[in-house]
Amino acid sequence: MGQNLVRTLASAGHEVHVVDVRPEDQLGELPDGAHYRRADLRDGLQTRAALADAQLVFHLAGNPSGTVSVVNPRLDFETNALGTFNVCEAVRDTGCRLVYLSSAMTYGKPQAFPIAEDHPVAPYYPYAASKLSGEYTVKAFVETYGISAAIGRAFVIYGPGEDPRRAGAEVGQYLRWHLNGQPIQITGDMDRKTRDFVHVDDIVSGLLLIAAHGVDGQVYNLGSGQETSLRELVAAIGMVTGRTPETVVNDDITEDTYRLVADVSKLRGLGYEPLVTLESGLADVISHLGDSPELPMLDTIFRPAQRETAA
Ligand SMILES: NC(=O)c1ccc[n+]([C@@H]2O[C@H](COP(=O)([O-])OP(=O)(O)OC[C@H]3O[C@@H](n4cnc5c(N)ncnc54)[C@H](O)[C@@H]3O)[C@@H](O)[C@H]2O)c1
Repeated sequence: MGQNLVRTLASAGHEVHVVDVRPEDQLGELPDGAHYRRADLRDGLQTRAALADAQLVFHLAGNPSGTVSVVNPRLDFETNALGTFNVCEAVRDTGCRLVYLSSAMTYGKPQAFPIAEDHPVAPYYPYAASKLSGEYTVKAFVETYGISAAIGRAFVIYGPGEDPRRAGAEVGQYLRWHLNGQPIQITGDMDRKTRDFVHVDDIVSGLLLIAAHGVDGQVYNLGSGQETSLRELVAAIGMVTGRTPETVVNDDITEDTYRLVADVSKLRGLGYEPLVTLESGLADVISHLGDSPELPMLDTIFRPAQRETAA
């Protein structure tokens, strides 16, 4: 997410400072107009120093992986929950505006299709709970200290630049297997599991709208508004590559076999219009991945025993 947003901001002429715990040489080349500041968001002093002169903060950093949150929930909470608290404190002291990127996983198992922002939240595993904790912290700082902040709840993001060590979402993983001539490994029921896959360019547009017009303390869904089953995703990959994908289905893991699609009306009210179709988005990612990209490194689990069973 970060590298795509940074490119857009820098090419619009903004002075951008990338704050990340990883050393600069692991972040890829920064565009002209972008600078690097190292900080670990788990450390309040480092976070405050890094944001001291900011005018607008997009808080995207954290653990994005549900599987990592199952294996190491403390890392997940320290990064996502405590890290977001530290960002809120720094934003309060700096007086700048904040946009926090949360996740549709906070909704838990949906009871409505499409799902709007007033749907109940019900995290069912650590990642979703830590992201929701971040949301509540942002809202509490808006109410208590009057910070200027709004929240985006992203559905399933895909696009160029994903790191296979940390990215566990379907589009990137499926393409990496298929482009290497390997079967696509599917977790859950291919027909009953549907998702809202949203290209990173649309997420960037949505984040910019939330920064400019989002109401303080409010949450905005960031999705495509299109529902796609895993079977339809596999078929779309076959269409775009011209080769029918092989698949291996693990339907023993059913925790996230459900329908999930965003109602994006609220963000549309700020001017949002998702523009990238699944087919053109897939072609975009394929053009960045090349013929034999690195294979996915994350599995999909919801309980530690599922990994032991798979092993
Ligand atoms: N990828 C998705 O489908 C998706 C969906 C919904 C929400 N999100 C959210 O979007 C955000 C970005 O996700 P991504 O897919 O770009 O992940 P990513 O792993 O590519 O990027 C996260 C960045 O945060 C940095 N980071 C991690 N811990 C840090 C710390 N303690 N201090 C400073 N920096 C730290 C990492 O080094 C990395 O550069 C996350 O907050 C994630 O929860 C992602």
